[in-house]
Amino acid sequence: MKIIDGKATAAAIKAEIAQEVAKQVASGRRAPHLVAVLVGHDGGSETYVANKVKACEACGFRSTVIRREDTVTEAEILELIDSLNHNDEVDGFIIQLPLPRHIDEQKVTRAVAPEKDVDGFNPANVGMMSLGLPCFKSATPAGIVELLKRYEVPTRGKHCVIIGRSNIVGKPLAMLMMQKGVDATVTVCHSATANLAEITRTADILVAALGKPAFVTADMVKPGATVIDVGTTRVPDASRKSGFRLSGDVDYEAVAPMCEYITPVPGGVGPMTIAMLMYNTLQAYLRR
Ligand code: GUN
Repeated sequence: MKIIDGKATAAAIKAEIAQEVAKQVASGRRAPHLVAVLVGHDGGSETYVANKVKACEACGFRSTVIRREDTVTEAEILELIDSLNHNDEVDGFIIQLPLPRHIDEQKVTRAVAPEKDVDGFNPANVGMMSLGLPCFKSATPAGIVELLKRYEVPTRGKHCVIIGRSNIVGKPLAMLMMQKGVDATVTVCHSATANLAEITRTADILVAALGKPAFVTADMVKPGATVIDVGTTRVPDASRKSGFRLSGDVDYEAVAPMCEYITPVPGGVGPMTIAMLMYNTLQAYLRR
């Protein structure tokens, strides 16, 4: 069993990005600038945005966090997005999800200009990605494919089973895994899938992205499979100062010994998501 170290891989990618930024700045250009919009005070979102700001520092980017209370109206958010779309000092921006229920996430993601949509959530980028055309790929699926590539996990002709059909992980990952060059055969499972364990046991690469702690048990995994755990659920833990720990979607203790490769939580996919966001921001900057 080998552990896929997402933290170290993400650090290597950020160092590569920092090198390119140093080159640009030395030639007289300003640094890339990423803006994050954070609505309300969700603990998870606060942590994600703080980690994105830290990553910007590591890459030599400028970063700005724009905060709004959760009473902000949809019209006010759309107005803010319009101003960021037109701000020449901003190369890319993200609206941290989830948003309060009175704000339509679809409307928000559609409003972000595709050339500044470094999350890759705008339907224009999703469509381009599905067609295999140049675009901003959403960060978590892109991070997973990058991890498989850097660890030289074979994908060609392999069966990749994805549990979860979300718009930000399951669906776009299916598109990337089946693309030319990756060449996996993909099955997407979800809450209505019959005989789930029977299907997951045929996976060479099993991706758990459903958000249920320790859902994937040893009897669902083929010995020698590569297991990618996208889950990051906060579960109460009195022994921690924070009062919680992050739990993946895989029963790690039981599953890890059977795997060829496995990603831990934390320190697996999570850091890669942020590294790919930095990569997208650098691309947005270079294109401008
Ligand atoms: N919420 C959970 N993951 C993400 C992400 O990758 N980007 C944004 N903007 N919000 C998220």
